[in-house]
Amino acid sequence: MSALKRIENTAWLRGNSAGCRPRFRERRSCWRLVLLGPPGVGKGTQSQLLKQRLGACHLSTGDLFRAACSRVGCDPTPAMQEAKNYMRRGQLVPDSTVWDMVRERSECLHCRVGFLLDGFPRTLPQAEQLQKFLEGAMLPLSAVVEYKMPLDEIIKRLRGRRVCETCNAVFHVTSHPPKVEGVCNECGGRLYQRPDDCPASISVRMEAYRKSTSPLIEYYEDLGLLTSIDADGTADQVFARTMGALVPQARRVG
Ligand code: AP5
Repeated sequence: MSALKRIENTAWLRGNSAGCRPRFRERRSCWRLVLLGPPGVGKGTQSQLLKQRLGACHLSTGDLFRAACSRVGCDPTPAMQEAKNYMRRGQLVPDSTVWDMVRERSECLHCRVGFLLDGFPRTLPQAEQLQKFLEGAMLPLSAVVEYKMPLDEIIKRLRGRRVCETCNAVFHVTSHPPKVEGVCNECGGRLYQRPDDCPASISVRMEAYRKSTSPLIEYYEDLGLLTSIDADGTADQVFARTMGALVPQARRVG
């Protein structure tokens, strides 16, 4: 993993934006995107591709909680311990804990290169809090991208996922295998299977998505921000579809 990637991650994952240096220094268009979609549909994978193309920072609340829960050398706060238990079971972390974590990192939402919010917001109260914050700060969203795919295909993606414990790079045992089994191509770190990718947690996560997150589709449709993308096909095909939908949308909003 490059030093710059580590610095960007530090700002979001550790809440320390003092040393944040976005990758793109020259002035480019500033994209502020929310990525929506069921667990495992490929939001994290698309975020990496979008980040390379658009230069915006990838802000994942799942990565943020995993980093906070696994930090070596400091005891997790009671709120973090509680968050860890919710995550292991596949349940959503309470809105107040999520918003506290995001608010502590609100500098990342002001970033001049924009952001890709992945896994946040996930409930209507979270979406309303975010919208209020962004309106107050005059930071309008460019678009909300909803990824869609049949459930049985999503489950195959989740069951085969492997993640680097050091740099969070994401692999898949068949569609995107590492060069050496169990070892990250990017940094040589150890690959592991997320504890919430077990069958019991997957069904709880899918139900949480259906019940709590899918209402956001209508919320963002009403705000005129929603773009729906078919997430079937290779990561590059999905990325091409996403860019094909975003560019005209960007022209519409100016
Ligand atoms: P989080 O980490 O956000 O997990 P998630 O939403 O469940 O999403 P995933 O990371 O599982 O999937 P993804 O869509 O990013 O797919 P990926 O690209 O990895 O959240 C985890 C937990 O944290 C939650 O359950 C909750 O407890 C808590 N939490 C987080 N945010 C919260 C919030 N705001 N409020 C409350 N609680 C919150 O892809 C999956 C696999 O498919 C990979 O192996 C990948 O290589 C493969 N793949 C991807 N695209 C393709 C493709 N096109 N073709 C073939 N394979 C592909």
